[in-house]
Amino acid sequence: MEKHFKRTTVTSALPYANGPVHIGHLAGVYVPADIYVRYLRLKGEDVLFIGGSDEHGVPITIRAKKEGVTPQDIVDRYHGIIKKSFKEFGISFDVYGRTTSKTHHEVASDFFKKLYDKGEFIERNSEQYYDEEAQQFLADRYITGECPICHSQGAYGDQCESCGSSLNATDLINPKSAISGSVPVMRKTKHWYLPLDKHEAWLRKWILEGHKEWRPNVYGQCKSWLDMGLQPRAVSRDLNWGIPVPVEGAEGKVLYVWFDAPIGYISNTKELLPDSWEKWWKDEDTRLIHFIGKDNIVFHCIVFPAMLKAEGSYILPDNVPSNEFLNLEGDKISTSRNWAVWLHEYLEDFPGKQDVLRYVLTANAPETKDNDFTWKDFQARNNNELVAVFGNFVNRALVLTGKYFDGLVPAITELTDYDKETIKEFANVKQEVERLLNIFKFRDAQKEAMNLARIGNKYLADTEPWKVAKTDMSRVATIMHISMQLVANLAIAFEPFLPFSSQRLREMINMEDFKWSDLGRIDLLADGHKLNKPSLLFEKIEDEEVEKQVQKLLDTKKENEQANYKAPEIRENIEFDDFLKMDIRVGTVLSCEKVPKANKLLQFVIDDGLEKRTIVSGIAKFYKPNELVGKQVCFVANLAPRKLKGIVSEGMILSAEDADGALSVIVSDRKVNPGSEVK
Ligand code: 2FM
Ligand code: ZN
Repeated sequence: MEKHFKRTTVTSALPYANGPVHIGHLAGVYVPADIYVRYLRLKGEDVLFIGGSDEHGVPITIRAKKEGVTPQDIVDRYHGIIKKSFKEFGISFDVYGRTTSKTHHEVASDFFKKLYDKGEFIERNSEQYYDEEAQQFLADRYITGECPICHSQGAYGDQCESCGSSLNATDLINPKSAISGSVPVMRKTKHWYLPLDKHEAWLRKWILEGHKEWRPNVYGQCKSWLDMGLQPRAVSRDLNWGIPVPVEGAEGKVLYVWFDAPIGYISNTKELLPDSWEKWWKDEDTRLIHFIGKDNIVFHCIVFPAMLKAEGSYILPDNVPSNEFLNLEGDKISTSRNWAVWLHEYLEDFPGKQDVLRYVLTANAPETKDNDFTWKDFQARNNNELVAVFGNFVNRALVLTGKYFDGLVPAITELTDYDKETIKEFANVKQEVERLLNIFKFRDAQKEAMNLARIGNKYLADTEPWKVAKTDMSRVATIMHISMQLVANLAIAFEPFLPFSSQRLREMINMEDFKWSDLGRIDLLADGHKLNKPSLLFEKIEDEEVEKQVQKLLDTKKENEQANYKAPEIRENIEFDDFLKMDIRVGTVLSCEKVPKANKLLQFVIDDGLEKRTIVSGIAKFYKPNELVGKQVCFVANLAPRKLKGIVSEGMILSAEDADGALSVIVSDRKVNPGSEVK
């Protein structure tokens, strides 16, 4: 039998405070967590929603160094920006804390100390890279060198960004310190390790036997970790940013960020509820749910539970709904490449449209596999679903009730079989939405909620109250009564998904009190209930608006390519005589047309000063045929003629090849005589 819990603690991954948040964060963690929490609150359950910033770790120190400011400056800046973005998108945390808080430092430090005193760690000496010039040990990210796999330069000690391989710092060829540029040396250092191998047996049983209901991606990742065999994991680092290791002889060492961050959930709870936080973490009647992204699975399903178990007084998570990744227009979202839709920028471009993004990210949520966000899909879902289905139904129902009944909900006169069927159909929606939300299937749940609006549209289309109004107003009264109950149902069903629109809708229909259990009822608005003036719930998004966003991304792509462009190596030297063998000329383009059945080729006729010559060139992807007519281009005049698609090409037009492979034809800067030599 399923256990009945008294309360639920919901946590959402603490984002690193070293940059703003983007749609990937929202889709992967915060929107699903918020939907779930809002749903539980609407059901009247006791729930606490914990969020906060993760303010330790090496990337923050790297960013600070780059900008010439302190790590504290960095986290202060981004904590503020991130917190604001979440608030603007309606992510309804009960607390949004930070891991640099005094409370967190105390809680994490005490946690470590307790495990230390209980003998839950092992101590190990190991050799690690040390920068003698900067006089500090180097975190893997601080070491760069040649990738042992793809041999590109600038790979990091933990990963090569060129080929994506995970690396060990000791694998790098010609390692260098990113701090001083000097060659690091190996030096002995001591660290504390959590012996995960000792926890393996119970973890296996707890997850693989006890939590078969976890999402397949989560369960599968845990299984593969467990099957590989767990190893002790270091929980301290040689770094000067973080929580000092609270034992003697640990100067210059801090808790590993992945040790302190999940404890942040506990500290933030304590910050909010200094006197009653424990019941949210230590009572067997509390259900703990972690919302995370897939790169966090091992920490939340294996490492953190092992820490909690070792401590001894905490509950373990009941579920860890983790999403896969959201890509953007076919490419991995990347902060460093600025390949992202930043939440604060989205709101500048689409003010007031938080719910549109929430809707699209849920409709397209990467619940079972990586998914792609495209601006075209964003526009289509807004225009074809929010506007054409949801907004359209609500608007028609409100306008018709306004028109025929002065904005007062009319009473039912008599129900037809079709009315009864419709009522039954929408009453069923509640059960299905609930079932899906309970198993964290937010995408399907939202789709099901949308069915209410589809039912409504169909009902209006089938009953045609605007026609019936000519003959039978009592029938129209019944139709509008049912329609308005459907509208009220929509306001409830969408509160977890689209909180801003739900609120506006509730204002329009003048509905103050509502709860989840009301869903499916057809007496939510009493006979004679006064409605307010309707306004449009959603607006169409025009082509130009999304084209602008696509262009912004294309510009980013171009900038990245240019920033990364490495000119090809210069070829071997040639003698001057060899150069003279090439006869390069300027010629005027007389005509240009596409070569049939060859999408890359253009056929030029060029005045070379002596005669007209034909040249076939593979630049059709980059130029329209008429674009070059009249221009004076450079071409190799003495290249032996070649046949291309049956056309004899007498030479080659010269172009420059850009980083992305785009070709630009070389034209003469001033007008010259056709046939002039290029020297
Ligand atoms: O991956 C990340 O962004 C981490 N900062 C998540 C930490 S989750 C929790 F442990 F705090
Ligand atoms: Zn590589």
